Amino acid sequence: MTDFKIKKTETIPAESVQNGFVNEFLRDIDNLSSHETENPSDIRADFLLHYDKSRWKEVVSEPENTLQVFITDRCNLRCPECFYGQWLSTAEMSLEEYKQHVLKYSSQANKVTLLGGEPTLHRKLVEIVEFNASLGLKTTCYTNGIRTKRLEAVMQKPEMAKLTSIRIGIHGLTLSEKPLRDVPKTDIPVTIVYMLAEYNKHELMDAVNFAENNFNCAGFFISSLREIEKTGDYWVDTPRTVPINQYAHIVQSFVDHYNGDVQKLHLSTRGVLVTENQDFMGVTKCRFGSILGDGSKVIAPLDISINRTSPELTFDQQQCVRHHKCVLQKIILERI
Ligand SMILES: C[S@@+](CC[C@H](N)C(=O)[O-])C[C@H]1O[C@@H](n2cnc3c(N)ncnc32)[C@H](O)[C@@H]1O
Ligand code: SF4
Repeated sequence: MTDFKIKKTETIPAESVQNGFVNEFLRDIDNLSSHETENPSDIRADFLLHYDKSRWKEVVSEPENTLQVFITDRCNLRCPECFYGQWLSTAEMSLEEYKQHVLKYSSQANKVTLLGGEPTLHRKLVEIVEFNASLGLKTTCYTNGIRTKRLEAVMQKPEMAKLTSIRIGIHGLTLSEKPLRDVPKTDIPVTIVYMLAEYNKHELMDAVNFAENNFNCAGFFISSLREIEKTGDYWVDTPRTVPINQYAHIVQSFVDHYNGDVQKLHLSTRGVLVTENQDFMGVTKCRFGSILGDGSKVIAPLDISINRTSPELTFDQQQCVRHHKCVLQKIILERI
């Protein structure tokens, strides 16, 4: 295991101005770019994430089986890096088709993730979320955040709000096709998912500050762009993607310097980050099953962009082919 702590964490005084920790963070990641070159032999090594235990507690939970449904191929954006870009069209799954898919797998999965395309464009979005709730299934809706108004109606019903979470995926604060700054404001609780890329890594700390000041930010999720459709290999980078080692250092630097109010941090492990409490070694089989807009089925989400379909979905049976443990696990830190 590589202990990659960049420097000892010092508690940042409460009076420290926000710019202070943004600058510290930027200095850390700039130093990293200049003298941390990627060593291919450590790419798959574990990196031990440190966090201040007087400020954060780690949430350890059992992985759950998740059905991901790409309910529409329509989208109001065209992000150049989108892994689903090749399927974007005007096609949309009907409510009946959706119900059939979900009923088929509802005994195997505990929750449903709605994706696309842009799920908030689906004409029957509210009915879809209500249907999931009627089966006792939790729903997570991934959205670019442009049309969260549709979801406000859902979240107004307390019984629905309990089972529904909304994740706004952004590719920068000011940069990209979907910068956080351009997302219309909403009062409903949202988790902001920051897809880290080479071109936006400098905006990460400003983005979390913006999220907490402008949204009802239930959580901040750091994940990262991969361009598997271009490389065919999860571990191979493109000029847009952040190399694994650098990703681990950036997340560590973020956890060291972030001193804002967001109550929950979700940190994608990318198959390398571990903590003293969790090494994720037990999670080696794929807990996901995806149904694309045309009804085709893909077990491991990373296989979507390379169109590796399966005749049937299985949960917790297929060994991960990318790594010796799941690269999609996350570390959750909750504010004490
Ligand atoms: C395909 S989008 C569909 C939902 C919605 N339109 C959105 O943008 O959030 C689902 C998620 O995948 C992310 N994403 C897009 N391209 C990606 C890539 N090449 N690698 C990793 N994640 C990607 C998006 O930022 C978003 O969080
Ligand atoms: S908004 Fe979402 S689905 Fe649409 S192009 Fe961007 S990442 Fe892809």
